[in-house]
Amino acid sequence: MKRTRSIVRGIGSYLPRRKLTNQDLEKLVDTSHDWIVQRTGIEARHIAEDDETTSVLGIKAAEAALADAGLTANDIDLVICATSTPDYTFPSTATMIQTGIGMTHGAAFDLQAVCTGFVYAVATADKFLQSGSHKRALVVGAETFSRILDWNDRTTCVLFGDGAGALVLEAQEGEGTSADRGVLTSHLRSDGRYRDKLYVDGGPGSTKTTGVLKMEGREVFKFAVGMVADVVQDAFKATGTSAEELDWFVPHQANRRIITASADKLGIAQEKVVITVNKHGNTSAASIPLALDAARKDGRIKDGDLVMIEAIGGGFTWGSALIRW
Ligand code: ACO
Repeated sequence: MKRTRSIVRGIGSYLPRRKLTNQDLEKLVDTSHDWIVQRTGIEARHIAEDDETTSVLGIKAAEAALADAGLTANDIDLVICATSTPDYTFPSTATMIQTGIGMTHGAAFDLQAVCTGFVYAVATADKFLQSGSHKRALVVGAETFSRILDWNDRTTCVLFGDGAGALVLEAQEGEGTSADRGVLTSHLRSDGRYRDKLYVDGGPGSTKTTGVLKMEGREVFKFAVGMVADVVQDAFKATGTSAEELDWFVPHQANRRIITASADKLGIAQEKVVITVNKHGNTSAASIPLALDAARKDGRIKDGDLVMIEAIGGGFTWGSALIRW
């Protein structure tokens, strides 16, 4: 039966100018390049300067995605920005991106699901497009996690980086099979009982401050692989596809060991796994579109490829989406 699909029309990303290597971090806290690489796979990350706010990064990524799509802001009627590090409590970063790209029509809003934010945003945009209410969505993941880190805490400050990525999704009619192009299925989960495992210890409604990131890293690791496997299996089941049919597995880039263990558990060959955590660190909601853009630009992701994205983040939140490019 024919149905509306959200097709990927374009993709873009942007990284802040300043790169911070593990060797640079050795001068800031009691850590070592070897420890960071062995535990996480991270070698470097980009850190935003004062003038590079989340919306500034998001605007650059959005402009790149529009250029890739051969479209202008006039062609877009929905902007969703996944972020946990908005420029301001309000207005939303999405409305700042909307203005930044020169768009005064349509709707724009932020979505907050921490590192799962981009998967939540793709799923949300897909539902808007499927409903027929909107035609083309700009889905942005943009973060400046460097602003909410305790730079004296070696257990967290070595893990994160800043950046942004964006997708243009367009409603088109498909046949209703897994051979269709576009978002084939999405699966979102959350369980607030785990809030203490990964959180920021401040906010406007509690401390009236921004707060800093706190994490029980080993605990997060323990849950991550199982949660990821569950939602990826849900996506395979919903579409009648399998790990063998997958062309690319593009997970949230938090830690190379979590990514490798998840792929192994799911029977996904390591050569199908896209990894950028070595160069970007964990950029939260920006990590998946940054990785997708890298794999698209270097020729790995081709039109028609079957691409699985998945993430786990604070909350806990977790989710997956299967996309035929
Ligand atoms: N450099 C050197 N030593 C360190 C550092 C560091 N940067 N950080 C911690 N250590 C020390 C610890 O103090 C500890 O020392 P001790 O044994 O003397 O007490 C030792 O290293 C081991 O610490 P663990 O925390 O047990 O190390 P682990 O192997 O678990 O690795 C890590 C830590 C990398 C954080 C890992 O647990 C992990 O990746 N967890 C998942 C985190 C994650 O993915 N979070 C993102 C979720 S997405 C989101 O929503 C933000």
